[in-house]
Amino acid sequence: MCGIFAYHGQDSAVDQVVTGLKRLEYRGYDSWGVAVATNQELSVFKQVGKVTQVADEAELGLPKGQIAIGHTRWATHGGVTQANAHPHLASDSSFALAQNGVVENFDTLKAAQLQAGENFKSETDTEVIVKLIEAERQAGKDLLTAVRAAHQKLSGRNTIILITPDGEIIAARQGSPLVIGFGNSEGEVFVSSDVLSFATQVKEVVTVDNGQVVQVSPAGEVQLFDLKSGAKLEIKREPLQLDQPKIDKEGYEHFMLKEIHETPVVIRQVSTQPIDRLTQAAELIKQAHSVYTIGSGTAGMAAAQIAYYLRSVAKVPAVSLVGADANEYLELFTPEDVLIAPSQSGETADVLEILEQAKELGVKIISYVNMPASSMTKLADLSFLAGAGPEICVMSTKVFTSQIAWGYLLAKAVAGQTADGQAALAAVADSVQAYLEDSTAMTQLSNLAQQLSGAKDIFLMAKGQLFQVMREGMVKLIEGSYKHAHAIPAGDLKHYAITLMEAGVPVLVAVADDAVRSDVLNAAHEVKTRGATVIGLSAQAEASFDSTIVMPVSGETAAIALVVPVQLLAYHLAVVLGNDVDHPRNIAKSVTVK
Ligand code: G6P
Repeated sequence: MCGIFAYHGQDSAVDQVVTGLKRLEYRGYDSWGVAVATNQELSVFKQVGKVTQVADEAELGLPKGQIAIGHTRWATHGGVTQANAHPHLASDSSFALAQNGVVENFDTLKAAQLQAGENFKSETDTEVIVKLIEAERQAGKDLLTAVRAAHQKLSGRNTIILITPDGEIIAARQGSPLVIGFGNSEGEVFVSSDVLSFATQVKEVVTVDNGQVVQVSPAGEVQLFDLKSGAKLEIKREPLQLDQPKIDKEGYEHFMLKEIHETPVVIRQVSTQPIDRLTQAAELIKQAHSVYTIGSGTAGMAAAQIAYYLRSVAKVPAVSLVGADANEYLELFTPEDVLIAPSQSGETADVLEILEQAKELGVKIISYVNMPASSMTKLADLSFLAGAGPEICVMSTKVFTSQIAWGYLLAKAVAGQTADGQAALAAVADSVQAYLEDSTAMTQLSNLAQQLSGAKDIFLMAKGQLFQVMREGMVKLIEGSYKHAHAIPAGDLKHYAITLMEAGVPVLVAVADDAVRSDVLNAAHEVKTRGATVIGLSAQAEASFDSTIVMPVSGETAAIALVVPVQLLAYHLAVVLGNDVDHPRNIAKSVTVK
């Protein structure tokens, strides 16, 4: 949710920042901007649209300084306009500032500033921070003290960065991540929202914690302070250890397609999770009073599937929560409870807020995160790293599959059947690989996407182990096609959704060889009788299916395999409809604001 990037070094800072912003674009891509310091002056460039549309940095017409900051925006306060894009200049041009976050007390602060006669050039909450810092400066504070004092007045999660005309950079973290990179060449410093954005250019990194502020002097000296007290903190540089820092489509047309094709590797990777840690997690779950899973968006669907596995495989009555709606559980949590959080980024604000408060109540937290060094990993009592490699497409695919595969293994560990779980994951990884290598199956999906491209609504239906992955299929179809999709619990069909069934409505029906198979097939008959076009997802064709996506799946892991064709269908639909596959409109990959 918004990306921040700063460069201080010998290279052209504008080139570096634009390159960095291109890598951060998954965090927000409606507008962007750069501020560069040269000859005691700040030059600012802002534009609506995607930074990846810039072929040559020379187009910006900015001077080639060696110190610059940049921002890629996902609009919260104020529409998508050039004026609302960051960075925002102070009224005397003494600094330019960008924010990643939301000023929750923006209305009150702005009202007071308007009353004091301030003029605003944008509709953003960020300009309020600019005015707060200006007021502290006018009261005689040095810039760092003014930033700290202004920051104390903000409520919400606000990470900010600013640059001065003489090339000083100050960045404060509260909420959204911030990391410092020390470059390969002498005196080169990067500050960014995400380590991957400069991974190939740095040797050492420092993660800025919440409540810390970093200052990079015009000479390149880096200092770290406590945001509240101003106390100087020790900077502990750590070597950058990233197994797969490379961000490359590797011949695929889109990141989404490449990432779906990485699924077999990612599933196998789950079985290499440290067994002692898995056993520890299983023990925590066995001893718990209540077990909850939590996530937002796709991770919320994964959380629901993990809870399903805990109930069905481990016989633990786990309950899944949606990050933004879990507040009422805070009063129910006890120190004997366990909260399990799958997350791609480990930074989702809705989930983090619940985890932070739950931790204070003594709840044990288990995290399963893909991005290294995330806030959730730090917060967790027991943390697992998915190790699925960078997931660049905003639509999560391989990481979702990794999360549910891990949830399955965790449930098997609780049931004392870890080895069986590992064998089942190896088998399902092989099935998915064979499916992805089957060119007839791939062509069938792109043809099906053509067939669905004219549909207004797409329905999905399943029961039991496959229902949550059909809900995730619904998420993917919505994100990829911008069409309305709806996942129906097969057993509940006749209670309401059947009223929507009419001639030609497409319904994807997923079945496995389990106890609810005949229930789902009956529901398929009922929609077919009303004229729906039924597309089965199954190991074999059935009488009620008009066509079948055949995937040889069986047993407890069917969901891990069957989500893959639905992800691919969403991909092909996005392509057929000419949508921006890797950056669906209006959504961001890492939502670090509430
Ligand atoms: C955003 C993304 C989703 C993602 C969700 C949770 O809404 O668009 O794809 O599932 O955030 O993100 P997380 O990083 O916690 O998995």
